[in-house]
Amino acid sequence: MELFNEQFVRSIKLKREEIPSFKKYPFNLPSLKTLDELSFHPNVTFLIGENGMGKSTLLEAIATALGFNPEGGSFNFNFSTYDSHSPLGDYLKVIKGIEKPRDGFFLRAESFYNVASNIEELDREGFGPRVIDSFGGVSLHEQSHGEAFFATFLHRFGGNGIYILDEPEAALSPLRQMSMLTRIHDLVNENSQFIIATHSPIIMAYPEARIFEFSEEGINERRLEETNHYQIMKQFFVDKNRMLHHLLNG
Ligand SMILES: Nc1ncnc2c1ncn2[C@@H]1O[C@H](COP(=O)(O)OP(=O)(O)O)[C@@H](O)[C@H]1O
Ligand SMILES: [Mg+2]
Repeated sequence: MELFNEQFVRSIKLKREEIPSFKKYPFNLPSLKTLDELSFHPNVTFLIGENGMGKSTLLEAIATALGFNPEGGSFNFNFSTYDSHSPLGDYLKVIKGIEKPRDGFFLRAESFYNVASNIEELDREGFGPRVIDSFGGVSLHEQSHGEAFFATFLHRFGGNGIYILDEPEAALSPLRQMSMLTRIHDLVNENSQFIIATHSPIIMAYPEARIFEFSEEGINERRLEETNHYQIMKQFFVDKNRMLHHLLNG
């Protein structure tokens, strides 16, 4: 059976005519050169591709255009000023669905530490129920990076939400990455939408999804088996010795 969610975000459109110059970051990114409109899958959309192609820049712009803090967190985590992020978000037109998400989180591996610190600060101030309880109750600083990350997926993500994740696999073992597929599926069944930048062929294997590969040529939709990530990992596992010989003996 095909799952079909209420879609919170249908697509983004780059307001090309308003961009002053394509010579400077972030507008000089090759992936933006040909970007017009990117249409999201109602369940999961993956942004993949080599390092430096602009996945994080675009993901952050999507998140800020939706009202998230550029450093990450939920809609109401306003713990830093807004002026450190790239201006790309201001040049994106977000085409939203009819339903509004009731939950949301922007999770960046790079600044997850700051989210953890911010929760502790909020709880020290002591207004209302403890924030950490909605993350599983144990200080995120007192767990390993992977455990803290996973606790956030399990406890903080509540369904009916839009979840934007940047390299969620960074801290997770292969087994945890597979568990993450299960959690993504549960949340999709609870009417959630994900946009995920990832290098993990395990995570990008989630079937109800679109995969967009970023390269020097721009952004192109791919099937899992066509992606560079999948093919390279497959080659490695099928003939590790040949790959090692090539890598180590030039
Ligand atoms: N604040 C910035 N100022 C100038 N260049 C940047 C900035 N942030 C990232 N870049 C450059 O933009 C490119 C894309 O970065 P990023 O979006 O992080 O790529 P990805 O997530 O695909 O690895 C990189 O080459 C990086 O050096
Ligand atoms: Mg990145």
